[in-house]
Amino acid sequence: MIMVLLIVLYLSAPALSKLCNQDKQVLLQIKKELGNPTKLSSWLPTTDYCDTIWEGVACVTDSNNQTCRVDILYLSHLNLPKPYPIPPSIGNLPYLNYLYLIDTNFFGAIPSSIANLTNLNYLNITYTNVSGTIPDFLSHIKTLVSIDFSYNNLSGNLPASLSSLPNLGEMIFTGNRISGAIPDSFGSFSEELILMRLSRNRLTGKIPATLAKLNLRFLDLSRNMLEGDASVLFGSEKDTVQINLGKNNLAFDLGKVEFSEILAILDLRHNRIYGTLPQGLTALKHLTKLNVSNNNLCGEIPQGGNLQRIKVNSYAHNKCLCGSPLPACTLVN
Ligand SMILES: *[C@@H]1O[C@H](CO)[C@@H](O)[C@H](O)[C@H]1NC(C)=O
Ligand SMILES: *[C@@H]1O[C@H](CO)[C@@H](O)[C@H](O)[C@H]1NC(C)=O
Ligand SMILES: *[C@@H]1O[C@H](CO)[C@@H](O)[C@H](O)[C@H]1NC(C)=O
Ligand SMILES: *[C@@H]1O[C@H](CO)[C@@H](O)[C@H](O)[C@H]1NC(C)=O
Ligand SMILES: *[C@@H]1O[C@H](CO)[C@@H](O)[C@H](O)[C@H]1NC(C)=O
Ligand SMILES: *[C@@H]1O[C@H](CO)[C@@H](O)[C@H](O)[C@H]1NC(C)=O
Repeated sequence: MIMVLLIVLYLSAPALSKLCNQDKQVLLQIKKELGNPTKLSSWLPTTDYCDTIWEGVACVTDSNNQTCRVDILYLSHLNLPKPYPIPPSIGNLPYLNYLYLIDTNFFGAIPSSIANLTNLNYLNITYTNVSGTIPDFLSHIKTLVSIDFSYNNLSGNLPASLSSLPNLGEMIFTGNRISGAIPDSFGSFSEELILMRLSRNRLTGKIPATLAKLNLRFLDLSRNMLEGDASVLFGSEKDTVQINLGKNNLAFDLGKVEFSEILAILDLRHNRIYGTLPQGLTALKHLTKLNVSNNNLCGEIPQGGNLQRIKVNSYAHNKCLCGSPLPACTLVN
């Protein structure tokens, strides 16, 4: 039986390798650069990486079946015995479309060889210990649609050049140590950009007025040290579904703000926002989560819409908000 299997493997091997060997040496080099982890024990010189048996590897085959190149590399939970840098050889997989490096003890900078991945659409490096800055060279990968660098150890400033990426739809840098101001250039992202999450960093300074030009569906700037006016982020002409600005030092008059009709989540907790709650909030049919607690708001909570269905602690700790669901206003308010 074993003899028969060996013969079959031997006979079929040349045909497979002829068709599907272009990226094999690179994958084996990546495995070597990671110290040959157990998780990648299916990556063997004797097998074909376009078979699904190569952990985390998927291929794209061209119409004539002449080539099959690595399209997806999904490396997660590698359980490396010690920290390793992200293998620079990844930059030698030119057909790569999806690159996921998740929950693994990578350290050091994001390698510059990634700039050579000129077909890359989805870049997801999350829950690792990579450090250094968000690389400027990302702006050269014009195909990028999604960048997620959540929960790493990245620091330095946000690269102003990112806004030149013509196809970028989502940008997520939650949970790093990114500092400095949001660049003015971030107002000139293409209209493809619908999601921006920069939460849990060390961003400082004012929100640039240029951001008024964006039409984001989802925006999360919470848990930074941003200050001043955030009213440029709002507008009745926008298609915003979610805005989270909680836990910053923002100070502006909320009473003058107008909202997207489809706003569902508005979290402004723990800032220094003043003025009144605008009447326009009662017109928002989809508003299910609102938290304006711990600000300097004053006056009566507008009656109507979903505003009385919001939990009372979402209005708590303001200067002098009153009215249902808070206690009724008195002459003092
Ligand atoms: C490519 O290979 C697949 C699977 O072996 C086969 O179904 C398909 O017909 C082939 N396409 C061409 C153009 O040869
Ligand atoms: C990052 O490093 C810390 C400290 O060395 C370690 O506890 C943690 O497990 C590492 N993270 C990952 C995802 O391996
Ligand atoms: C990108 O690829 C070119 C050509 O293969 C190579 O010369 C260059 O060193 C690569 N760049 C990086 C940063 O690896
Ligand atoms: C990136 O990967 C993480 C872990 O699998 C996942 O939770 C997250 O949604 C991914 N990001 C994007 C933008 O798909
Ligand atoms: C995060 O990066 C800093 C250097 O920027 C380093 O000193 C620290 O050890 C890193 N933390 C982890 C958990 O890797
Ligand atoms: C609103 O934020 C406050 C302060 O962080 C918190 O205590 C409260 O539970 C939040 N309300 C809801 C409904 O989550």
